[in-house]
Amino acid sequence: MELIRIPRIMQDTAGGHFLHGRSIGLVPTMGALHEGHLSLVRRSKGENDITAVSIFVNPLQFAPSEDLNKYPRDIDGDTEKLRRENVDILFMPDAHLIYPEGFSTHVEAEGISEKLCGAFRPGHFRGVATIVAKLFNIVKPARAYFGQKDFQQAVIIKKMAKDLDMAIDVVICPTIRENDGLAMSSRNLYLNKDERKAATVINKCLTQTTELIKSGIIDIESIRRFMKEKLSEEPLITEIQYASIYSPQTLDELEKAGKGALLAIALKIGKTRLIDNMIVNP
Ligand code: PAJ
Repeated sequence: MELIRIPRIMQDTAGGHFLHGRSIGLVPTMGALHEGHLSLVRRSKGENDITAVSIFVNPLQFAPSEDLNKYPRDIDGDTEKLRRENVDILFMPDAHLIYPEGFSTHVEAEGISEKLCGAFRPGHFRGVATIVAKLFNIVKPARAYFGQKDFQQAVIIKKMAKDLDMAIDVVICPTIRENDGLAMSSRNLYLNKDERKAATVINKCLTQTTELIKSGIIDIESIRRFMKEKLSEEPLITEIQYASIYSPQTLDELEKAGKGALLAIALKIGKTRLIDNMIVNP
């Protein structure tokens, strides 16, 4: 596995592969890698000649009050995991090379970035779209892989690629879960034992709401009430930011749930913010 830390060298390397007709698959991450990340790596390995993984904890997508400084970092563990997956390139740039002094250009998918998580994390998706656009320009992938776990992020990146004519196939991959259903996330490392147990209520709520909808209860009031009651059974939840049913395209709340609708939840357990989602009858 080739370790590249300098954007210019990554660009030249990618250019070389392009000239030889080799396709590059890119998996952008912030590290602290788990099976969710590795599932994207395996998908890319199956569909491209070269797989590049980026690890960059992007300061632009964290608000001053958020967890940038304590975000989990495990460079040695991550490198070993990627080596075992036979990843071709690990791109791990320093922040000052990505955002040199005077950097002032941003990418923002307006409208969709302010919904759901965007309402609680102003500027977050502007930071995400900007770094992903930069990674696309540096790594020049044919395909880029994102998890459904971060549904809104994936929709925004797809939209950015379409709106800005980026000839990149944005592939959305299924959410990988722990045995008890909790969606894997680097932030799960923040949870203590009791909080970790409490977090299983999120997947239970999504699964049971899906069953409710399948049984014919599809109006928004009943669904919202059911989800809120279910989540309220867990006393360690300190804040429910949203829990409802949405259009997977516009992310607007739906009046009635139907096939393909998006159930999505964001909440805090203690100080840890967790998100998850499920598509009804995909
Ligand atoms: P990060 O949280 O490290 O996630 C990297 C990728 O892994 C994202 O596409 C995310 O959706 C996917 N992922 C995370 N947990 C997953 C799971 N349980 N199952 C499947 N996929 C999962 O998302 C980011 O980093 C950043 O915002 C980034 C896109 C790298 C931009 O900085």
